[in-house]
Amino acid sequence: MLRAIGVKTLDELIDKTIPSSIRTRSCLNLPEAISEAELLSELKNISLHNKTFGNYIGQGYYGTIVPSVILRNVFENPGWYTQYTPYQAEISQGRLESLLNFQTMVSDLTGLPIANASLLDEATAAAEAMNMFFHQVNKTDEIKSAKFFVDDEIFPQTKDVIVTRAAPLGISVVFGDYRNARIDETFFGAIVQYPNNLGSIEDYRDFISRVHNVGGYVAMATDLLALTLLTPPGELGADVAVGNAQRFGVPLGYGGPHAAFFSAKDDFKRAMPGRIIGVSIDAENNRALRMALQTREQHIKREKATSNICTAQALLANMAAMYAVFHGPRGLKNIAKRVALLAQIVADAVQERGFELVSQNFFDTIVVTVTDIKPFKEKAERQRINLRYIDNTHIGISLDETVVLDDLYDLINCFENDVDPVAFSINEDDELEHLPSFAVRTSSFLTHPVFNTHHSETQMMRYIKQLENKDLSLNTSMISLGSCTMKLNAASEMIPLSWIHWSHIHPFVPAEQAKGYKRIVDELSAYLNAITGFDACSLQPNSGAQGEFAGLLTIRNFHLANGDAHRNVILIPISAHGTNPASAVMAGMKVVVVKALDNGYIDVGDFKAKAEQHGANLAGTMITYPSTYGIFEEEIKLICDIVHQQGGQVYMDGANMNAQSGLTSPAAIGADVCHLNLHKTFSIPHGGGGPGMGPICVKAHLAAHLPSHSSIVNRETSIGAIHDSRFTIHGAVSAAPFGSASILLISYAYIRMLGAEGVRKATEYAILNANYMKARLENDFDILYTGHNGTCAHEFIVDLRPFKTSAGVEAEDVAKRLMDYGFHAPTMSFPVPGTIMIEPTESEDKAELDRFCDALLSIREEIKEIEEGKSDRKDNPLKNAPHTQLSVVTSQWSHSYSREKAAFPLGYVKQNKFWPSVARVNNTVGDRNLICVCEPTSSYAEQEA
Ligand SMILES: Cc1ncc(COP(=O)(O)O)c(C=O)c1O
Repeated sequence: MLRAIGVKTLDELIDKTIPSSIRTRSCLNLPEAISEAELLSELKNISLHNKTFGNYIGQGYYGTIVPSVILRNVFENPGWYTQYTPYQAEISQGRLESLLNFQTMVSDLTGLPIANASLLDEATAAAEAMNMFFHQVNKTDEIKSAKFFVDDEIFPQTKDVIVTRAAPLGISVVFGDYRNARIDETFFGAIVQYPNNLGSIEDYRDFISRVHNVGGYVAMATDLLALTLLTPPGELGADVAVGNAQRFGVPLGYGGPHAAFFSAKDDFKRAMPGRIIGVSIDAENNRALRMALQTREQHIKREKATSNICTAQALLANMAAMYAVFHGPRGLKNIAKRVALLAQIVADAVQERGFELVSQNFFDTIVVTVTDIKPFKEKAERQRINLRYIDNTHIGISLDETVVLDDLYDLINCFENDVDPVAFSINEDDELEHLPSFAVRTSSFLTHPVFNTHHSETQMMRYIKQLENKDLSLNTSMISLGSCTMKLNAASEMIPLSWIHWSHIHPFVPAEQAKGYKRIVDELSAYLNAITGFDACSLQPNSGAQGEFAGLLTIRNFHLANGDAHRNVILIPISAHGTNPASAVMAGMKVVVVKALDNGYIDVGDFKAKAEQHGANLAGTMITYPSTYGIFEEEIKLICDIVHQQGGQVYMDGANMNAQSGLTSPAAIGADVCHLNLHKTFSIPHGGGGPGMGPICVKAHLAAHLPSHSSIVNRETSIGAIHDSRFTIHGAVSAAPFGSASILLISYAYIRMLGAEGVRKATEYAILNANYMKARLENDFDILYTGHNGTCAHEFIVDLRPFKTSAGVEAEDVAKRLMDYGFHAPTMSFPVPGTIMIEPTESEDKAELDRFCDALLSIREEIKEIEEGKSDRKDNPLKNAPHTQLSVVTSQWSHSYSREKAAFPLGYVKQNKFWPSVARVNNTVGDRNLICVCEPTSSYAEQEA
């Protein structure tokens, strides 16, 4: 490989690639590497420091039974968890179908026509609803309605995030009781919870009309299981419904990952945050699914975006959808009824013992009034039970599907004297007496065949497998997506996630029950600080884009604390990922775009001029390093100096950290804060578009300005979760204090098994692999942008634009043709339109790199045949790609090239053929007529006819 590149040693390659001015020579301060077996044993031991109490805390997180068929075949299956976001629809039909099921499930249960394919968590989904309403009502720069009403009884963590997200946009959050709230034209919207924070089922119909009458919109935070029994928000008049789909078979995991949902009225379909899966057709007029309205994807709108959502929670949305497919509408309703019955039994038993409930209208949660929580708490803890201590006189009890009748003895015993034996009565056939009549659901849901077919394990297993077979994942071939770092997600890193001492921990348990997690959080933070060269870390953001937002907020808080509220201008190079400007706008900053030179480097002259022009108001800059063009710019330190001289801060987008770890660092280049995409460099799988984690690391002077969380503040005062998010120093950016905490284990395991030397070597091999591929391809393709010594970093850009003139071939044709060779396309048209960006990562061996290069070189030959007139410009293997099994076996083959060339273009393909399940998907049909739920059965019948 070195010979092909033209260097003698790996060191020589690295020296040529990374400017010496930023190279760190010292060894990373990380513990010695350990083996896989040692890691598993270590994580088992640490896990035992987490205590698995009976949990009745609720507050948006509930015990759930993950059906084993889903656990084994989705959650623990690389065929599902190593998938990439389904941008290449033809090889993603399985997860697209499952996500369409998720959307249908959310849409049906909430009674609203449009649903997206998941958001990060309930609290951020609520904040997204607020943002969407704000922009919908205030369409011009002149803000007429700046107030957002938040009912007192929504979950504390939701309040926390709403407050954080509102401030930079100038939104004024008004808390109050919806029953007597005075809503006028100064309000653009409101949020209420159904059932609410205290478990109470409230009638919001009148309130919703009042908000609508002044031109505002209403979001309802809600619970999918409850909605199997309750009138859906859409039927009550709500404009948007949000919530957490966790209790549909996704483990608690100390806060995540879980899929939040977001559904809305039709009017919002072009303003909705996140990704929407839609129905379209393929080149052969067959039904095909794709990500709808792709060019509208929020973060692509850059500074015009109203949300920055990119990575969401696809894998967990798939699990929740599968849970609904497995149980079906009747099964779900039975689960809900049983949970409601358990709550009713507890309510009756507690009232019989002389206690009062806050509300008589409830589904799964009751709140008991006591004179002092202390004795109840002591008794509960003695019995290894967690109740929710809302304040000193209120105790919340939430039931869930994991609770069995035996558990009720201990639970009720918490409210019993120590003398009398606990007894309670149950009648499984009892009517549910606490669902108010206005809220009793009469409409049907999940009537589509997919939710009424796969109810046996055999059927379910085959359905999951059938979908998996349609998707190309890392268990088929390398996925060389530049800037996305699709590396190995090692089995040993994944296994502990299924262990109950990690998966059964509620995010708001007392700190002493989560000591195992604390150790992971503390150690991983220290490792990430060592790798970035920084001093403090927040593990709260649960995606890269959330990390960007959190990092910029940290900068904002710093300027505010220094009395520099006017510092709100941020310089962002033109080549930046779309989430950078989108996050900046969300953090209340004004984006000034900096030019790039022809060689891809930042135009330092332009940068300096703009930094000086905005000097007094400069908040900072956002820089991706190595740049999105895959090069280590030599002048990075100068760029950072320019910003610092003007009083600004430097934010480094760490998506490309795979090219830095152990060789240089954000601190070495002169940055102040960075986020790390743990779902890239640090081995968390992409899950088909999430989960992710985007922690931020900062220099010491920013440490005091990192996000906080109401539950941490509360835990320190040990009164349990309290109502008021204003107790935090800085608000939260995620619903849970450590984001999607359980997947932190993966990154912890990755670093532990590599150690300092391994982390550095991984970076070196990533650079080696990229330069080797570049060397193999550069005689036949133009490679855009290399460093001054002719090397690239961990990724490189192949220019396909010349082929448009020479052969009528576009980048998309090459991407689709790669599928016939069994490969996923590299990143398309980012950061340069008409190009592909290849990032092999350290995980791939030479044989796989060669296979991919052979495929691209073979495609180059096919292009040459068109250039030379040997192949037709319109009817050729590229234009017709990908070729499905059906299209190849058809008796009417009319193309000028052979079937063999179409489907088996190289020898290795014959050994291991991956078939795209649909032909090229039509991008416009689906957008023109947006269908984002499972079509009625009648439409299939029409198609068959
Ligand atoms: C350079 C860069 N920055 C930020 C992001 C956003 O990360 P996430 O998708 O986790 O929000 C990405 C994602 O692809 C990226 O490539």
